[in-house]
Amino acid sequence: MSRINLMGLVRDTIKGLKAYHVENLGEGTKLHANENPYSPSPELLNEIFSRLDILELNRYPDPDCKNLRKAISFKTSAPIEQIIVGNGSDELIQYLMQVLCNEGDTIAFPDPTFAMYGITAQCLGLNPISLPLNDNWGFEAQPALEILAQHKARIVFISYPNNPTGNCFSEREIQKVIEQFKGIVVLDEAYQDFSGKTFIEQMKKHNNLVIFRSLSKIGLAGLRVGYGIFPVELVEQINKVRLPYNSNSVSQLVATGLLNNFTVVQNQIRSILDERDRLMDELSKFSSIVAYPSNSNFILFKACKGGENIFNSLKENGILLRNLGSHPRLKDCLRITVGTKQENDQFLNRLRKVTS
Ligand SMILES: Cc1ncc(COP(=O)(O)O)c(C=O)c1O
Repeated sequence: MSRINLMGLVRDTIKGLKAYHVENLGEGTKLHANENPYSPSPELLNEIFSRLDILELNRYPDPDCKNLRKAISFKTSAPIEQIIVGNGSDELIQYLMQVLCNEGDTIAFPDPTFAMYGITAQCLGLNPISLPLNDNWGFEAQPALEILAQHKARIVFISYPNNPTGNCFSEREIQKVIEQFKGIVVLDEAYQDFSGKTFIEQMKKHNNLVIFRSLSKIGLAGLRVGYGIFPVELVEQINKVRLPYNSNSVSQLVATGLLNNFTVVQNQIRSILDERDRLMDELSKFSSIVAYPSNSNFILFKACKGGENIFNSLKENGILLRNLGSHPRLKDCLRITVGTKQENDQFLNRLRKVTS
């Protein structure tokens, strides 16, 4: 029998971390993960089922995701050679850091923002630093550029729109960073389908820009499909660290089908945006709630009489939101993903009861 000291083998940086905790409900109303509340169309699902037998599931998937990359190229107008598919865009965050950073190097991001930039950096032994947003959740280029230069940062990740605050930062401020920062600027456009805003055109002029997108927010969260558009020189380098067959056959087939039949998704997006505006109007009627403007499929709001209480009460009634109260600048803040009309009404009714 062999008994070795397993913990003695684990890297110190990893021992010091906590696993990313995802709150979940078995059954109930899931308004916590910024997913699309609508499933893919029955037509798409039928087409996919009818083609499953020709997928040859006993074979490895297409390692180059050719059909999917073609569909992405068609949707984005980005050259196919610059597109890399990830098992979710989370995977691409890690690849980019692996390619560009040595242990101890600095990467940066506005704060508050999407947690995975910091977590991935820590796992890789990098130095994650934050660029504090102003009181309106705005991003200011000048102080950010100073911090980036001072730490010789190699990458800055900008979630555009920003999760969890929901807003798109000023284009002018981002432009200054693209033009002056001597490292890579990632525009993480995971919510671009809701904002309609993108920096993709800027890639023609600037070779320090990377764009990330995700299909998780528009209907395929369960299949883990994200993609990145990279400067040509970086594609080959990313492909060196990309795991072989990182995108599976089913995900490739369904994602290609979804993108090639985008009208259905477009209609779903329109309904989500209508519901977001209605939710915003309704939230503004609560005297004890401050809701922040959103360019996304979610809304951040502050519950002045206590966010924890509202979060727990909603959860006890089968409605799950994202509780952000542990972040020092997000005390009493909750994030609601826009659901169907029925789900949103369920949330509003319960909120009225808890806050009355
Ligand atoms: C800003 C941002 N980027 C990336 C992701 C991850 O997307 P994916 O599901 O494609 O890994 C999320 C998910 O919440 C996000 O909010």
